[in-house]
Amino acid sequence: MKYDFDKVVERSNTASVKWDATEELFGEKELLPLWVADMDFKVPDEVVKAIQSQAEHGIFGYTTRKPSYYEAIIDWMKDHHNWVIEKEWICHSPGVVTALNLIVQAFSEPGDKIIVQPPVYYPFMKAIQNHDRQVVYNPLLFNEGRFEMDFEDLISKIDSSVKMILLCNPQNPGGRVWTESELKRLGDICLERGVLVVSDEIHQDLVFKPGKHIPFSAISEQFADNSIICTAPSKTFNLAGLQTSNIIISNKALREKFVMEGDKYAVTMSNSFGALATEAAYNHGGQWLEEVLDYVEGNLHFITKYFKSNLPVLKVLPLEATYLAWIDCRELGLTPEELEKLFLSKAKVALNQGYVFGPGGEGFVRMNLACSRSTVEKAAQQMKEAIIQLLL
Ligand SMILES: Cc1ncc(COP(=O)(O)O)c(C=O)c1O
Repeated sequence: MKYDFDKVVERSNTASVKWDATEELFGEKELLPLWVADMDFKVPDEVVKAIQSQAEHGIFGYTTRKPSYYEAIIDWMKDHHNWVIEKEWICHSPGVVTALNLIVQAFSEPGDKIIVQPPVYYPFMKAIQNHDRQVVYNPLLFNEGRFEMDFEDLISKIDSSVKMILLCNPQNPGGRVWTESELKRLGDICLERGVLVVSDEIHQDLVFKPGKHIPFSAISEQFADNSIICTAPSKTFNLAGLQTSNIIISNKALREKFVMEGDKYAVTMSNSFGALATEAAYNHGGQWLEEVLDYVEGNLHFITKYFKSNLPVLKVLPLEATYLAWIDCRELGLTPEELEKLFLSKAKVALNQGYVFGPGGEGFVRMNLACSRSTVEKAAQQMKEAIIQLLL
């Protein structure tokens, strides 16, 4: 082990949303922040060095992307996902959420319908509603603690107004890594009915062994032709503040439309630090990532065991991907508002409340495990004490 993730890195007063904006956003003091999806871990050393050398240069004018930037992405996708992509397919957006908003505008009209599979990352719904399109829910089935797609329901929801589906692959907050057969079934349904598949694969690298992420468009040429794949180094390497994501579109007509939409808002320019950090992370971050995944898995085992022995009323779901634990609190029998209040005012932990992820999320909370073990221990203890008080 090269990195020591037990070491707590002080993040207060660093303009961190997680550590400096939690009080304002949640309206409570002294909260332990375990909500927004970034890590409390320092990035790989090579990323820090790349940024330092750029900072020392001292000029931060308009920036383009070097051939080595594209090579790093192409190599990473090939080596880690067995996915062969070409330089021309790589399009740009500061963030994946920006890209989702651009995609909604480029490939649908006001009033059109767009499918999502809740509970799901809530900016999916916002990206649809922001532009006066209609959200159509194809809720995931919850079978013995595991989310599955409901294909019959999906088919029944598709009519001529449905223009696309926003797929979360791997899934946040359910932590599923969709299998090839699940993706094939979804892809065939969408292909037959002319529904564009927008696959948000931002969590593609955060998959626990022996799981394997399958890029949607790697399945077949027809799928590639009918899809847009959103990727970024931001979740994988904790670079969200550098605003760099890569939207991979092999279909030329789709790509041109996406690029035109980005140009309208002038959001395709490179962030000079973001591009360098991306390149360094993809070229040198493999070992760091393995260590992070082992550490997060250790955190997951810890809370799973802790709640099982100390607070069995909370159930931590098995996680195939992401560093975001999904915890079933339904046995407490509280309303979403009561549950939120319990964790904020009594346990003093800021978690994401399940209901914001749409239907099926009520009664669950999402807890960010990309932090030191001592932070997870503290949060678990505070949650236990608050709930024991409640149950007395
Ligand atoms: C599924 C998913 N997509 C997108 C994002 C955010 O992407 P970005 O910061 O690049 O806009 C997140 C962050 O948690 C996420 O979970």
